[in-house]
Amino acid sequence: MPAKEVNNINSSELYPSFLVKEVNNNIKYYANKYRESPPVLREAMKYTLTCGGKRFRPVLCLLTARSLGKDYRMVIPTACAIEFIHTYSLIHDDLPSIDNDDFRRGKPSCHRKFGEDIAILTGDALLTEAFNIVLKYQVADDRLKIKVLSEISDASGASGMVAGQVADVYYTGKRIDKNKLEYIHRNKTGRLITASVRCGAILCKADENYLNKFTEYSENIGFAFQIIDDILDIASDKKITLGEKDNYSGKKRNTFPDMWGLEKSRKIAEEKINNAITVIKSIDIDYEWLVKIAKFLLTRKA
Ligand code: IPE
Ligand code: IPE
Ligand code: MG
Ligand code: MG
Repeated sequence: MPAKEVNNINSSELYPSFLVKEVNNNIKYYANKYRESPPVLREAMKYTLTCGGKRFRPVLCLLTARSLGKDYRMVIPTACAIEFIHTYSLIHDDLPSIDNDDFRRGKPSCHRKFGEDIAILTGDALLTEAFNIVLKYQVADDRLKIKVLSEISDASGASGMVAGQVADVYYTGKRIDKNKLEYIHRNKTGRLITASVRCGAILCKADENYLNKFTEYSENIGFAFQIIDDILDIASDKKITLGEKDNYSGKKRNTFPDMWGLEKSRKIAEEKINNAITVIKSIDIDYEWLVKIAKFLLTRKA
């Protein structure tokens, strides 16, 4: 792991590439740990963990620690654990029985490369090892560690990310109202993003008032993140060529653009980003990067 905190910030950037590098190095370090595992599992874990990706959730976790004046390296294990969970969720999301996507980040999805059986098991391994990483490598009081584990399991479990994914699958092809669509977005995407910020704040011992503001910030960001994701999917030929002219997702999945149209969806995302920025500026922290990464969401292309 790098020896000292890197602060060479390029102020013209909206996305902190110095932290992406930090996350990538550490993910690689953890991905190389499974020497006792079957080679195919080891390979599939490494392939999916190091296959690109913005590292949005771990970067948010690190930026939260940094905004509180702490050395961001102290939250790296938890940040990486959250990326393990995110990676597992994408592997399972791409499976033929869910979104049936052959490509992820421009490369064959896990099941296309290793087969469906190994893809399911790779997801299982990543989910479980995420908790192992926090238990083994996160340096913190036991009380804080338990809080972090509880945040992550609540956010990703049966009332969090999995609930959102189940609702997404269940309502595919059915008409739903605004509340249901928001439920899907909040849970399938928002919860893990919120957990990333909250875990950073919890490990830095942020007080309750700050924690509430961080929560509000991240909920707005999480919501906007999925709206933009849906808008970007429309732009990608892949989904359009799948068919269903009357449904942008091509799979009768319920999306914001389907419900509100492109222009209004973008407006809603902008509103959420503005809310996030207002909230985070209302507390006495070094919020510059948290504001920048919020703005980045409106400009991102992938
Ligand atoms: C994509 O997430 C899936 C959603 C939850 C919307 P990301 O856009 O963070 O994916 P990567 O990790 O950068 O590829
Ligand atoms: C993915 O949502 C959400 C999770 C994996 C939890 P989507 O299915 O909308 O995202 P993409 O378009 O495949 O990245
Ligand atoms: Mg999906
Ligand atoms: Mg998908």
